[in-house]
Amino acid sequence: MVFTRAALSALALALSTVSAHVTLSPKYAEPGQNLSTSFHVPHGCNGSSTTSIFVTIPKEITALTAQSVPNWNLTTTYRDSSNASVETITWFGGKLSPEDALDFPLSLTVPNVDLSAQSNVTLYFPIIQTCEVGTANWTSIPPAVSGEPAPTLLIVKNATQAAADAIAMKGTATASAHGASSTSSSSTTSAANNLYAGMLPIAAAAVAAIGFSL
Ligand SMILES: *[C@@H]1O[C@H](CO)[C@@H](O)[C@H](O)[C@H]1NC(C)=O
Ligand SMILES: *[C@@H]1O[C@H](CO)[C@@H](O)[C@H](O)[C@H]1NC(C)=O
Ligand SMILES: *[C@@H]1O[C@H](CO)[C@@H](O)[C@H](O)[C@H]1NC(C)=O
Ligand SMILES: *[C@@H]1O[C@H](CO)[C@@H](O)[C@H](O)[C@H]1NC(C)=O
Ligand SMILES: *[C@@H]1O[C@H](CO)[C@@H](O)[C@H](O)[C@H]1NC(C)=O
Ligand SMILES: *[C@@H]1O[C@H](CO)[C@@H](O)[C@H](O)[C@H]1NC(C)=O
Ligand SMILES: *[C@@H]1O[C@H](CO)[C@@H](O)[C@H](O)[C@H]1NC(C)=O
Repeated sequence: MVFTRAALSALALALSTVSAHVTLSPKYAEPGQNLSTSFHVPHGCNGSSTTSIFVTIPKEITALTAQSVPNWNLTTTYRDSSNASVETITWFGGKLSPEDALDFPLSLTVPNVDLSAQSNVTLYFPIIQTCEVGTANWTSIPPAVSGEPAPTLLIVKNATQAAADAIAMKGTATASAHGASSTSSSSTTSAANNLYAGMLPIAAAAVAAIGFSL
C-alpha cells in the first residue's frame, strides 16, 4: 500500500480535528474543592491561528477567577451588578499558531453537589474559539450529538481515582490499536493521537489495520 504525502496530511488534518478537543485540564474535581485548572487549546481552527477564546461559565459555579496569559488580554462579565459571579471570560488579542497548544488558566470553587445518589455531576463550559480565518464552536452539550463538544468539569467523589481510571482507559485503547484485527473506533482515536505526536509510520500501520483505503 502506498501512502502519498498529500493523502497522509489530509488524513492527519481530518483525524486531528476529531481527536484534539479543547478541554478543561484537570477536569475531575470533588464537591467544595478549590480547583486550579486550565482550558487546554490544542490547535487552531482548520489551520488558522487562534485570536480569541470566549467561555460561558455554568451558572452552578459562583466563585471563579480567570487568570491572565502573557500577551493576551482578559475580560470578564458578571451575572449581576454585584460582580460576584462570573458569567463569561474572554481571552483575546493574542495569536496562537495553529500547530501550537496553550493553556488558559482559572481557579474556581467546585459546587457542593450531593453525590450520594449519583456517581458524578457534569458541568459544561461552552467555548467559541475565534481564529484569523473562521471559528470553532466547542458548544455541543448532550443530548445534542452534532457539533464540537463543550469542555466539561466532572464532579466526582474521588478525583484522583477518576483521573487514574481515565488514563487507564486511554492506555487500553492505545494497546488495542496495535492489534492487527482491531476495528473499534478507539483505533481511530489512537491513530489520531499518534499522528498528532508526529509518529507517522505507526499511524499508517494503525490506519492500515482499520482498513482505510487510500
Ligand atoms: C476555598 O477558598 C476560599 C477562599 O480563599 C476559602 O475560604 C475556603 O476555605 C477554601 N475551601 C477549601 C475547601 O479549601
Ligand atoms: C478547511 O480548510 C480547507 C483548505 O483551506 C478548506 O478547503 C475547507 O473547506 C476548510 N474546512 C472548514 C470546515 O472550514
Ligand atoms: C462591577 O464592574 C463594573 C465594570 O467593571 C464596575 O463599573 C462596577 O463598579 C463594579 N461593581 C461593583 C459592585 O464592584
Ligand atoms: C490589550 O491590553 C493592552 C495593555 O493593557 C492594551 O494596550 C491593548 O490595547 C489591549 N488590546 C486590545 C485588543 O484591547
Ligand atoms: C458519570 O456518570 C455517568 C452516568 O451517570 C456514567 O456513565 C459515567 O461513567 C460517570 N463517569 C465518571 C468518570 O464517573
Ligand atoms: C459558530 O457559531 C456562530 C454563531 O454563534 C456561527 O456564526 C458560526 O458560523 C459557527 N461556526 C461554525 C464553524 O460552525
Ligand atoms: C482516592 O483514590 C486514590 C487512588 O485510588 C486513593 O489512593 C485514595 O485513598 C482515595 N481517596 C479517598 C478519600 O478515598
